[in-house]
Amino acid sequence: MLARVITRLGFLARRPWISRFTIDGRAYGGRYDVTHDPRLGHFFRCFPGARRALELGSLEGAHTFALAARVAEVHGIEGRAANLRKARFVQRRLGRRNVTFHQADLETFDPAALGRFDAVFCCGLLYHLPRPWELLARLRRAADGLLLATHYAPADKADEERNGYAGTRYHEFGLKEPLSGLSAESFWPTLDELVRMVRDAGYAAVEVCDDDRSHPHGPLVTLAARV
Ligand SMILES: C[S@@+](CC[C@H](N)C(=O)[O-])C[C@H]1O[C@@H](n2cnc3c(N)ncnc32)[C@H](O)[C@@H]1O
Repeated sequence: MLARVITRLGFLARRPWISRFTIDGRAYGGRYDVTHDPRLGHFFRCFPGARRALELGSLEGAHTFALAARVAEVHGIEGRAANLRKARFVQRRLGRRNVTFHQADLETFDPAALGRFDAVFCCGLLYHLPRPWELLARLRRAADGLLLATHYAPADKADEERNGYAGTRYHEFGLKEPLSGLSAESFWPTLDELVRMVRDAGYAAVEVCDDDRSHPHGPLVTLAARV
């Protein structure tokens, strides 16, 4: 009873929330429920033996805790302190001990500094970066497997070339927006160029798991990459 009150007051004190969490059978937080997110299904199908996983752009920890329920150890990297404070609060309320959160800017941070991982869960992060090819190259040094879900530029909207990749520039929404990138703009390659970028980073096998061309925020691909 006391635990429930502490949980409820803690969620109230940290409003607003984006993600929904179920703790001791009760739902708290926002409306974004990742329980049946097919990207988690793709991750476990593609990397069934993963024991040490890395999540990028972990927000309030919803995917992190879903991963941690099925692998031995998860590290989540998130750029915003406010998102991390929420994630750590939920971690305490869940009693989840196999998760470690880190605050870092993935535009420059090298995930290999945290050791080797079996696979990376990178959903909703890459399209926030101005130089996505740099993170992909660093990820390759940290893990042999990558589940990547990201928006890409439609081929007829490619009006810019960066580092030899065709795509378009996207304006981010600033540091106060919890879902946004940390820089003022990002770069979205086309799908063919994204796949080339992943291969150039050192992933020899790329499997497209899902390609949602009518997503309201722009075409969204989920792909699994292996060295
Ligand atoms: C669109 S949300 C995606 C959240 C979650 N991964 C998902 O797929 O639902 C993007 C997340 O990445 C974080 N983020 C954006 N740019 C980042 C960066 N350069 N370094 C670290 N985190 C970043 C944001 O703070 C936010 O939590």
